[in-house]
Amino acid sequence: MFPAKVYSERRTKLRKELSKGLVLFLGNQDSAFNYPANTYSFRQDSSFLYFFGLDHPDLAGVIDLDNGTDQVFGDDLDINDIIWMGKQPTIKEQALNVGVENTAPLKELSVLVKDAREKGRMIHFLPPYRGETILWLSDLMNLDHLKLRENVSIELIKGVIKLRMVKDDLEIKEIEKMIDVAWLMHTTAMKMAKPGVVEQEIAGVIEGIALSHGGPVSFPVILSINGQTLHNHYHGNTLAEGRMLVIDAGCESGLHYASDITRTVPVGGKFSQRQKEIYEVVLNANLAATAAVKIGVPFRKIHLLAATEIVKGLKALGIMKGDVKEAVNNGAHTLFFPHGLGHPMGLDVHDLEGLGEIFVGYDNEVIRSKEFGLAFLRFGRKLQKNFVMTIEPGIYFIPELIDSWKNENKMAEFINYDKVETYKDFGGIRIEDDILVTDNGARVLGKPIPKTVEEVEKTMKS
Ligand code: GLY
Ligand code: MN
Repeated sequence: MFPAKVYSERRTKLRKELSKGLVLFLGNQDSAFNYPANTYSFRQDSSFLYFFGLDHPDLAGVIDLDNGTDQVFGDDLDINDIIWMGKQPTIKEQALNVGVENTAPLKELSVLVKDAREKGRMIHFLPPYRGETILWLSDLMNLDHLKLRENVSIELIKGVIKLRMVKDDLEIKEIEKMIDVAWLMHTTAMKMAKPGVVEQEIAGVIEGIALSHGGPVSFPVILSINGQTLHNHYHGNTLAEGRMLVIDAGCESGLHYASDITRTVPVGGKFSQRQKEIYEVVLNANLAATAAVKIGVPFRKIHLLAATEIVKGLKALGIMKGDVKEAVNNGAHTLFFPHGLGHPMGLDVHDLEGLGEIFVGYDNEVIRSKEFGLAFLRFGRKLQKNFVMTIEPGIYFIPELIDSWKNENKMAEFINYDKVETYKDFGGIRIEDDILVTDNGARVLGKPIPKTVEEVEKTMKS
């Protein structure tokens, strides 16, 4: 846990973003896996963690904007709980660790909220995303669960985003520690990527590395020789010479800060000429995008710069053709690069996404596009100092998408379909780093993870 004053200061800053009423942060509850007592590993809600820091189920935090108090609601363990779970600090002791003096049993939360409702006070809450929380909030607010989304506090959403987006030194250190663990996960995967190995063997080992360093993986491991499927969680293929292996994996620290790294390597350790050519186009897009990061630059502009680099590279290989700028303006690159360049990262691997991408990634200046490809860009607005973002361009040969475009003769002035046909067995390549926006541009966070053709080949040989 961070020092108590970190949490107090965050709550004080949040007060300045809001007008009046009660702010309700519901912690997560345990969620049943296959029967009530066998639960999924507990994961606390990220906004609750940010403002109240306590990391176990059945807690709520309230900030009273009108009388200036903060309060933690939770129940002390009784002797039956202690038999199974051991003695734990009291709620009072725990709350003091996050700078909160007022505590009350959980059942008093409903009394407080009911009283506030009856007095017509404003009650701010964030969009719930878990079944248990939806039911809890629905009871507290006396609102049908389907009505909760319409009643979330936009003021609170915007305030939380404003604070959580800008990372302080303590948070950056947590994130970098997890990128260093990701270094071990990725270099281990690279060394294991030999013909005959089943994807699951590597996925299991790297997930184990995450767990043995304190936290779980920050999202289900993506590890596949079919990297053309962007989020491929099937791990049953046997690695074969000639395939590329996409490894997109990161982990969470004990305080739940994430890393999210992707590397793509040739099975067996040596890039073929064709693999190397496509790889270097993606690498070039990754490097150009990173170099273009600057305070005040819209991330959408950097996304489009990466797209431009991809089109230039694919044109040089005869896969695309025509005017590069026009191709990007028309979205022709989305046949190969259909997703966004990156996303914010912090306590959530897609940081704050549950509060609504439209609030996190867009504003009055940069409006979210509805076009295929650009619509998948989770974040388009201007970068600010101490934002942590991923930079993750890719090139994918998705046979079904190629067929669908080709049948329509779509963007035929920019795409050399005869040549594209010869890449349908290629798979995909993505290269992802986590960066910090600084006064001088971007700092790629953590211990450098092998990335150039030479570095990857050298690591795979070692
Ligand atoms: N690493 C998975 C993603 O960013 O969507
Ligand atoms: Mn990512």
